[in-house]
Amino acid sequence: MRHIILANWKMSPSKPREAQELFNNIKVVIGRLRAVQVLLAPPALFLHSLAATYSGNKVLFAAQKISPHEGQAHTGSLSAQQFANSGASHCLIGHSEGDDTIDALRVKTFLALKYGLIPIVFIGESKRDNSGDYLLVVREQVLSALQELSPTQLGEIVFCYEPVWAIGQKEALSAYDVQSMALYIRKILVEEYGAATARKVRVLYGGSVSSDNIVDILKIVDLDGVAVGRVSADAEEFIELLKIANKA
Ligand code: 13P
Repeated sequence: MRHIILANWKMSPSKPREAQELFNNIKVVIGRLRAVQVLLAPPALFLHSLAATYSGNKVLFAAQKISPHEGQAHTGSLSAQQFANSGASHCLIGHSEGDDTIDALRVKTFLALKYGLIPIVFIGESKRDNSGDYLLVVREQVLSALQELSPTQLGEIVFCYEPVWAIGQKEALSAYDVQSMALYIRKILVEEYGAATARKVRVLYGGSVSSDNIVDILKIVDLDGVAVGRVSADAEEFIELLKIANKA
């Protein structure tokens, strides 16, 4: 299976023209890569125009944030339905830089699937502790996101384990730590929903992924890919990372 590389552009770039240029630069390279599936999460303002001018299938688009509401009376919000109709196939839910509560994981995951978006649910503790409480935090997040889903929907979920303390750092977690958490997440899924469902769910790692650590991270058998922040918004650095990932 191809590794998923989620490019989370966060709040950059600042101009539509820069977003188009960045996308033009990376899409040429992505078109030649066979072993990676790129999911691009640009700022909402740019998603539709990027998706509308792209005719390939090597890049899929993800909304960074969807509203927890369905009705129209929500000034300033963008719904799952609007994103699904504007070129997105995926959406991010629960990223620590947003304001999603534990309950929003449940509400938004359900809504995303209802309107045909594949949810990428971010889970992860804000700090580690010696007593292992952080494991309970992650468990609660996983179970909350899946609470309202049918057995078929469960298998469509993507989790991204991204501990808050590992974002924006020089180094990612060790491959050993990432593997332990990927196994832990699958163990929760096996216990609660059975082995068949646990196998279908995809698990990514996010937090300071770069071309220096991508090889070690993608070697982890239980992991389906990575989420990349800063590096994904720099054409040169991201292309280097993609080329390495394509061979990993
Ligand atoms: P960095 O790769 O910049 O640490 O960001 C990670 C992230 O938040 C991706 O979702």
